[in-house]
Amino acid sequence: MSRDSIGFTFIVSATLCVVCSILVSGAAVGLRSKQELNKEIERKKNILSVAGLLKPGEGTGNVRKIYEDHVDGIIVDLNTGKVVTDDKELFPHPEEYDQKAAIDNPKMSMQIESSKDLAGIKRRENYSWVYLIHDENGKLTQYVLPVRGKGLWSTMWGFIALETDLTTVAGLTFYEQGETPGLGGEVDNPKWKAQWVGKEVYNKEFQPDIEVIKGSVNPESPNAIHEVDGLSGATITSRGVTHLLDFWLGDLGFKPYLEQVREKEEK
Ligand SMILES: Cc1cc2nc3c(=O)[nH]c(=O)nc-3n(C[C@H](O)[C@H](O)[C@H](O)COP(=O)(O)O)c2cc1C
Repeated sequence: MSRDSIGFTFIVSATLCVVCSILVSGAAVGLRSKQELNKEIERKKNILSVAGLLKPGEGTGNVRKIYEDHVDGIIVDLNTGKVVTDDKELFPHPEEYDQKAAIDNPKMSMQIESSKDLAGIKRRENYSWVYLIHDENGKLTQYVLPVRGKGLWSTMWGFIALETDLTTVAGLTFYEQGETPGLGGEVDNPKWKAQWVGKEVYNKEFQPDIEVIKGSVNPESPNAIHEVDGLSGATITSRGVTHLLDFWLGDLGFKPYLEQVREKEEK
């Protein structure tokens, strides 16, 4: 066959396409386990970082070690507040529970009535991870709770860490969000996040009571302990943070679980 013929051109192009697609799909399959591993490390890093256990630039090996030494993941039934990690019928392999995948699984999640959907997430999984943080002596120091909710453009995914009084914030972080950099994207600004430490998210009646206000918090205000400065030019994102915390700290979020922890402590 002549090299200049149409047939030859087709054969060369078809061969090239097949070879390239094999290479690309081979790379995708071959790298999948590495991607999964990176995802897992990233998740651990975010949990350690909200709990204040991660120094900047900590290596991957150290992240694993610090996580193993300080973090215990448990699974909580958000409807009843019960810990179900050891329920072998529900979770034969609890370590494999993929909370994000559960959101879209009708058997593992529920639709939220729009009047109660403060976080704007439409569906809520029935079971959530809660991360218990211990110090080097094994003493429980913090509860890290996964939270998410709508900002202006995106769903913001984060963690809030509470002290053992279940009310004082030890840290807040958003590890995935698509708000405008410099405006709503400032939810990820370390200076803004630092303001959260020491704030109280529940009032005396254990009702969610935390607000990202418009403007700056007046330290003299009796409510200052429940308030955080608004993000300037980003009132909608700021409100989104208030609302998502109201949701996740409320009856459809972690409140039933936290109430049970409180009851146990009081006994
Ligand atoms: C290009 C562009 C991007 C914006 N991004 C955000 C954002 O990420 N979050 C937000 O709350 N508002 C954002 N806004 C502003 C909102 O439209 C709205 O004006 C603002 O939330 C009102 O906040 P303010 O009362 O503090 O000015 C953006 C506006 C423009 C024009």
